[in-house]
Amino acid sequence: MNTVSEFAAAHAEGRKIVVVTAYDAWSARLLADAPVDCLLVGDSALMVMHGERDTLGATVELMAMHTRAVARGAPDKLIIADMPFLTVRKGSAAAVEAAGELMRAGAHGVKIEGVRGHGDVVRHLVESGIPVMGHLGLLPQSVYSIGGYKVQGKGTEAANALLRDAKELERAGAFSVVLECIPRKLATRISKALRVPTIGIGAGPDCGGQVLVLHDLLGFNAHFQPRHVRRFAEGAAVFREGVDDYARAVQRGQFPGGRECF
Ligand code: KIV
Repeated sequence: MNTVSEFAAAHAEGRKIVVVTAYDAWSARLLADAPVDCLLVGDSALMVMHGERDTLGATVELMAMHTRAVARGAPDKLIIADMPFLTVRKGSAAAVEAAGELMRAGAHGVKIEGVRGHGDVVRHLVESGIPVMGHLGLLPQSVYSIGGYKVQGKGTEAANALLRDAKELERAGAFSVVLECIPRKLATRISKALRVPTIGIGAGPDCGGQVLVLHDLLGFNAHFQPRHVRRFAEGAAVFREGVDDYARAVQRGQFPGGRECF
């Protein structure tokens, strides 16, 4: 799958869409043959790869660099890149410039957090030929105004507002909408109300697909397991075991061995 139209096709066939984050060439190379529909170059790269406490430091240049690396590793995968913090708030021209940079780096579309106050920018990008994935619910770029990484859309008013936002995104031309950390019932309601697929993360099983941060699902963040993450491998343990074995072999004079010398 490397065009967003196949998102619609998969959704129409009732097939769940599988999305995972990727930030670099080596993991993208491993993902190239995996049964994953789409690689998301999320601005979570700031936290996962750069150790920042939030995603706000992402720049277009940095996201383009990560996108380029992912595109080199998985040239046949559909790649969506996050629009960095505030890039959609400087008007349509600036947003086109930023999205163009990410597309030239290898993205096939961009993901945009929120819609209130920038629905026109989403529409302009779509009309400019840039596929847009929306993102509602917990918006990490707004973490300081929403008071932390908390479940969103609780209560009737907040739920209705999110449903309105989702419909606005669809009307503006978004090909899909990520729903992050909202109650399962609300995600189901939004998913049923939209024609485009929703992609859930902490939004229950009734979305059109799911997305997880690669390092979370592989268990590389040993000390971080929010409720919505399932660990499908014990990556941190495998990593440590390999490095421990290597260190021991060096310390004991067992590496390199005869066959590893020239
Ligand atoms: O930045 C990111 O990785 C994301 C996903 C977790 C949805 O936005």
